[in-house]
Amino acid sequence: MKRLSISILLLVFLFSSVQVFAEYSRSKVVKVMRNNLKMMRQLKTAEENEDFFSAAEAFMEIAQGSNTIKDYDPKRGPQSAWNNTHLSMINTAFGGIGACGNEDIEAVREAIAAISALNAQGHSAHK
Ligand code: HEM
Repeated sequence: MKRLSISILLLVFLFSSVQVFAEYSRSKVVKVMRNNLKMMRQLKTAEENEDFFSAAEAFMEIAQGSNTIKDYDPKRGPQSAWNNTHLSMINTAFGGIGACGNEDIEAVREAIAAISALNAQGHSAHK
Protein backbone atom coordinates (compact mmCIF):
# COMPACT_ATOMS: atom_id res chain seq x y z
CA MET A 1 0.00 0.00 0.00
CA LYS A 2 2.79 2.38 1.00
CA ARG A 3 4.70 1.51 -2.18
CA LEU A 4 1.57 2.14 -4.28
CA SER A 5 1.07 5.57 -2.67
CA ILE A 6 4.68 6.49 -3.36
CA SER A 7 4.32 5.37 -7.00
CA ILE A 8 1.15 7.45 -7.41
CA LEU A 9 2.87 10.48 -5.83
CA LEU A 10 5.82 10.03 -8.18
CA LEU A 11 3.50 9.80 -11.21
CA VAL A 12 1.61 12.93 -10.15
CA PHE A 13 4.93 14.74 -9.69
CA LEU A 14 6.26 13.64 -13.10
CA PHE A 15 3.00 14.54 -14.83
CA SER A 16 2.76 17.97 -13.22
CA SER A 17 6.42 18.76 -13.93
CA VAL A 18 5.99 18.32 -17.70
CA GLN A 19 2.79 20.40 -17.69
CA VAL A 20 4.45 23.61 -16.53
CA PHE A 21 4.18 26.36 -19.17
CA ALA A 22 4.71 30.07 -18.75
CA GLU A 23 1.57 31.96 -17.77
CA TYR A 24 -0.06 33.88 -20.65
CA SER A 25 0.62 37.62 -20.53
CA ARG A 26 -1.78 39.54 -22.74
CA SER A 27 0.24 42.76 -22.48
CA LYS A 28 3.44 41.01 -23.64
CA VAL A 29 1.67 39.16 -26.50
CA VAL A 30 0.01 42.39 -27.72
CA LYS A 31 3.37 44.21 -27.55
CA VAL A 32 5.02 41.47 -29.69
CA MET A 33 2.06 41.46 -32.12
CA ARG A 34 2.13 45.24 -32.65
CA ASN A 35 5.85 45.02 -33.30
CA ASN A 36 5.22 42.12 -35.73
CA LEU A 37 2.83 44.35 -37.67
CA LYS A 38 5.44 47.12 -37.75
CA MET A 39 8.12 44.64 -38.91
CA MET A 40 5.86 43.23 -41.66
CA ARG A 41 5.46 46.81 -42.98
CA GLN A 42 9.24 47.30 -42.74
CA LEU A 43 9.71 44.04 -44.69
CA LYS A 44 7.33 45.17 -47.44
CA THR A 45 9.25 48.43 -47.94
CA ALA A 46 12.62 46.67 -47.65
CA GLU A 47 11.55 44.08 -50.24
CA GLU A 48 10.40 46.80 -52.67
CA ASN A 49 13.70 48.65 -52.29
CA GLU A 50 15.81 45.48 -52.14
CA ASP A 51 17.14 46.78 -48.82
CA PHE A 52 18.60 43.55 -47.42
CA PHE A 53 19.94 45.16 -44.23
CA SER A 54 16.55 46.54 -43.19
CA ALA A 55 14.85 43.23 -44.12
CA ALA A 56 17.33 41.23 -42.00
CA GLU A 57 16.67 43.52 -39.01
CA ALA A 58 12.90 43.00 -39.34
CA PHE A 59 13.28 39.20 -39.62
CA MET A 60 15.43 39.23 -36.46
CA GLU A 61 12.84 41.23 -34.48
CA ILE A 62 10.10 38.82 -35.56
CA ALA A 63 12.25 35.87 -34.41
CA GLN A 64 12.97 37.59 -31.07
CA GLY A 65 9.27 38.32 -30.51
CA SER A 66 8.25 34.70 -31.10
CA ASN A 67 11.08 33.52 -28.84
CA THR A 68 9.78 35.74 -26.00
CA ILE A 69 6.23 34.31 -26.06
CA LYS A 70 6.67 30.73 -27.38
CA ASP A 71 6.38 29.11 -23.89
CA TYR A 72 3.12 30.86 -22.95
CA ASP A 73 0.02 28.79 -22.40
CA PRO A 74 -2.44 30.38 -24.89
CA LYS A 75 -5.98 31.41 -23.88
CA ARG A 76 -7.32 29.35 -26.80
CA GLY A 77 -5.90 26.23 -28.50
CA PRO A 78 -3.21 23.76 -27.37
CA GLN A 79 0.18 24.90 -26.06
CA SER A 80 1.96 22.44 -28.40
CA ALA A 81 0.43 24.13 -31.49
CA TRP A 82 1.26 27.59 -30.11
CA ASN A 83 4.85 26.52 -29.45
CA ASN A 84 5.28 24.83 -32.87
CA THR A 85 3.95 27.86 -34.76
CA HIS A 86 6.35 30.18 -32.93
CA LEU A 87 9.28 27.79 -33.53
CA SER A 88 8.35 27.81 -37.25
CA MET A 89 8.22 31.63 -37.16
CA ILE A 90 11.76 31.70 -35.71
CA ASN A 91 13.00 29.16 -38.23
CA THR A 92 11.43 30.95 -41.20
CA ALA A 93 12.72 34.34 -40.02
CA PHE A 94 16.25 32.89 -39.69
CA GLY A 95 15.88 31.55 -43.26
CA GLY A 96 14.90 35.09 -44.29
CA ILE A 97 18.08 36.48 -42.72
CA GLY A 98 20.09 33.89 -44.68
CA ALA A 99 18.32 35.02 -47.87
CA CYS A 100 19.31 38.63 -47.06
CA GLY A 101 22.93 37.48 -46.66
CA ASN A 102 22.74 35.91 -50.13
CA GLU A 103 20.96 39.02 -51.53
CA ASP A 104 18.34 36.58 -52.84
CA ILE A 105 15.21 38.73 -53.21
CA GLU A 106 13.05 35.81 -54.35
CA ALA A 107 13.91 33.82 -51.19
CA VAL A 108 13.22 36.96 -49.09
CA ARG A 109 9.73 37.16 -50.69
CA GLU A 110 9.13 33.47 -49.96
CA ALA A 111 10.10 33.94 -46.29
CA ILE A 112 7.71 36.93 -45.99
CA ALA A 113 4.89 34.86 -47.54
CA ALA A 114 5.63 31.94 -45.18
CA ILE A 115 5.49 34.29 -42.15
CA SER A 116 2.12 35.64 -43.37
CA ALA A 117 0.82 32.07 -43.59
CA LEU A 118 2.03 31.36 -40.02
CA ASN A 119 0.34 34.58 -38.88
CA ALA A 120 -2.98 33.35 -40.34
CA GLN A 121 -2.47 29.89 -38.82
CA GLY A 122 -1.67 31.35 -35.36
CA HIS A 123 -4.66 33.70 -35.42
CA SER A 124 -7.16 31.05 -36.51
CA ALA A 125 -5.95 28.65 -33.79
CA HIS A 126 -5.39 30.98 -30.84
CA LYS A 127 -6.86 34.48 -31.28
C1 HEM B 1 4.02 38.49 -38.48
C2 HEM B 1 3.07 37.78 -37.90
C3 HEM B 1 1.96 38.36 -37.06
C4 HEM B 1 1.39 39.61 -37.09
C5 HEM B 1 1.73 40.78 -38.03
C6 HEM B 1 0.37 39.64 -36.05
C7 HEM B 1 -0.42 40.75 -35.75
C8 HEM B 1 -1.31 40.84 -34.70
C9 HEM B 1 -2.02 42.03 -34.31
C10 HEM B 1 -1.91 43.40 -35.02
C11 HEM B 1 -2.79 41.73 -33.22
C12 HEM B 1 -3.71 42.69 -32.43
C13 HEM B 1 -2.90 43.33 -31.30
C14 HEM B 1 -3.69 44.40 -30.55
O1 HEM B 1 -4.57 44.04 -29.74
O2 HEM B 1 -3.43 45.60 -30.81
C15 HEM B 1 -2.59 40.32 -32.92
C16 HEM B 1 -3.17 39.64 -31.88
C17 HEM B 1 -2.93 38.31 -31.58
N1 HEM B 1 -2.10 37.46 -32.26
FE1 HEM B 1 -0.87 37.92 -33.83
N2 HEM B 1 0.34 38.43 -35.43
C18 HEM B 1 1.27 37.61 -36.00
C19 HEM B 1 1.54 36.30 -35.66
C20 HEM B 1 0.89 35.56 -34.69
C21 HEM B 1 1.17 34.18 -34.37
C22 HEM B 1 2.22 33.32 -35.07
C23 HEM B 1 0.33 33.83 -33.32
C24 HEM B 1 0.18 32.55 -32.57
C25 HEM B 1 0.88 31.42 -32.75
C26 HEM B 1 -0.47 35.01 -33.00
C27 HEM B 1 -1.44 35.08 -32.01
C28 HEM B 1 -2.13 36.22 -31.65
C29 HEM B 1 -3.05 36.27 -30.50
C30 HEM B 1 -3.38 35.13 -29.52
C31 HEM B 1 -3.54 37.59 -30.45
C32 HEM B 1 -4.52 38.14 -29.42
C33 HEM B 1 -3.73 38.66 -28.21
C34 HEM B 1 -4.66 38.96 -27.02
O3 HEM B 1 -5.49 39.90 -27.12
O4 HEM B 1 -4.53 38.25 -25.98
N3 HEM B 1 -0.11 36.03 -33.86
N4 HEM B 1 -1.66 39.82 -33.82
